[in-house]
Amino acid sequence: MVAKRRPVNKKTVKHRGKGKILFYLCLILLIALVVYLNRGTLHSLLWPKETIAGQSNDDAEPGGPDETVDAPDIKEPKEEDDDEEEADEVPEPDEYLILVNKDISLPADYKPEDLTVPNVRFSFAGPHERQQLRVAAATALEELFAAAEAEGYYLYAVSGFRSYQLQESVYNRHVSTKGREYADKISARPGHSEHQTGLAMDISCQKVGFDLVERFAETEEGKWVAENAHLYGFIIRYPKGAEDITGYNYEPWHLRYVGKEAARYIYENGLVLEEYLEQKSRE
Ligand code: DAL
Ligand code: ZN
Repeated sequence: MVAKRRPVNKKTVKHRGKGKILFYLCLILLIALVVYLNRGTLHSLLWPKETIAGQSNDDAEPGGPDETVDAPDIKEPKEEDDDEEEADEVPEPDEYLILVNKDISLPADYKPEDLTVPNVRFSFAGPHERQQLRVAAATALEELFAAAEAEGYYLYAVSGFRSYQLQESVYNRHVSTKGREYADKISARPGHSEHQTGLAMDISCQKVGFDLVERFAETEEGKWVAENAHLYGFIIRYPKGAEDITGYNYEPWHLRYVGKEAARYIYENGLVLEEYLEQKSRE
């Protein structure tokens, strides 16, 4: 006996065809939505800006016992007091003079509480934690970038706050690609990076492909930064010729916020932060 075939209903076939198209359209839209919502993450995965041809921006330190600094005091926002009008608190300047280097580290769980994203150009699409800086440093960076722009120089922020975990992965990447000895000259070990303080920002410009390279110092932008950063409270933390003190290669791109007074003194006297703090402690 031959089984009776169900007559093919053309309308049903057409309907199913339309249903399939609709299904695939929805799927494509859904994938597009997921990709859009995760564009920052995907971008940083596909385009890790911190890796540079020849050398990279960040890394760690060779062995040796470490001193761990206490987590810097972050002031709690004051509660409003209806009876008393209080003047705005002037931030304690020393708060921005924290020393983090190869010998002095931050606790792994230290994260500043006043991180914010400065309103400046970035070399990468956000959102990403390394866009952030502490409020005072963020405001100063905005002023620095605006002053540069007023003179026709366009600066780009590349890497600001980095958590212990992010620094760990940056450092390990350098170790695996360049070896520990070289990695230690260009990148801080986790806990030892100024980037974890939220007071450091690596910057670059279009002429060097937004990379963190020594050639940045030879660009108009790099020269302008070297001559003017102190006016906004920043120092070039790892200057040329100070490798023996800082332990790191020259990094004309690594700006560290220390406040205007300290930055001016350091600039005018050709010091590095370690020397400045040493002098200050003897006063
Ligand atoms: N490149 C600097 C030293 C850092 O990794 O913090
Ligand atoms: Zn840096």
